[in-house]
Amino acid sequence: MKVLITAGPTREPIDPVRFLTNRSSGRMGYALAEAFARREEQVLLISGPTQLDIPDHVDFIPVETAQEMYDAVAHYLPQMDAAIFCAAVADYTPVSVASQKIKKSADTLTLELKKTPDILGSARQVMGFRGYLVGFAAETENLEENARIKLERKGCDMIIANDVSQAGIGFDSAENEVLLVESAENTALPRDTKEHLAHHLADIISDRWLLKVKARELL
Ligand code: C5P
Repeated sequence: MKVLITAGPTREPIDPVRFLTNRSSGRMGYALAEAFARREEQVLLISGPTQLDIPDHVDFIPVETAQEMYDAVAHYLPQMDAAIFCAAVADYTPVSVASQKIKKSADTLTLELKKTPDILGSARQVMGFRGYLVGFAAETENLEENARIKLERKGCDMIIANDVSQAGIGFDSAENEVLLVESAENTALPRDTKEHLAHHLADIISDRWLLKVKARELL
């Protein structure tokens, strides 16, 4: 199976020395890349800047901005069997990047931002991906309901939802606790290290992908 994984934060430049980013450590995506590579699957990891070592036996494309991540995904997605979008992509980016360092002058400074491309939301409709598609949902309320809306709106086979209002799990943490939301069922995976969860998730996603292939063969 060929698996594409996006991971980490993106960095949206403001001027030559400043950028907008978020607290994503990249750890869940890298743990998934490693788990699939250990199963001898072909893994392509497309990642924003992180402090992590690139897992062995994984093809790696470093990116910075949401647009760069979009372009890399659009280029490689058609060859993939499964895609897992773990990255914490910035939702907004500066409308223009100052060519020189912005000087400190007035007491307030307003940055104008525009929406970044929705990479996961483009996978089916724009990029025509037909493989097994997994998105993440970081929510602070109505976890299942919001994940189910995302599942349908973005044409995913599975949403891995986590409650980011709980301390010690999810964003920038070593552990996670997730709810897998699929069209027919929900599966709760209890709190564990991201590495253990990644192995569990790799098992489940591989099984689901095989089922999808078999269902297609019967058509
Ligand atoms: O809509 P929301 O940002 O909550 O969706 C989260 C999911 O969408 C994650 O899987 C994330 O990797 C992906 N995403 C993306 N491109 C964006 C924003 C989010 O691929 N611009």
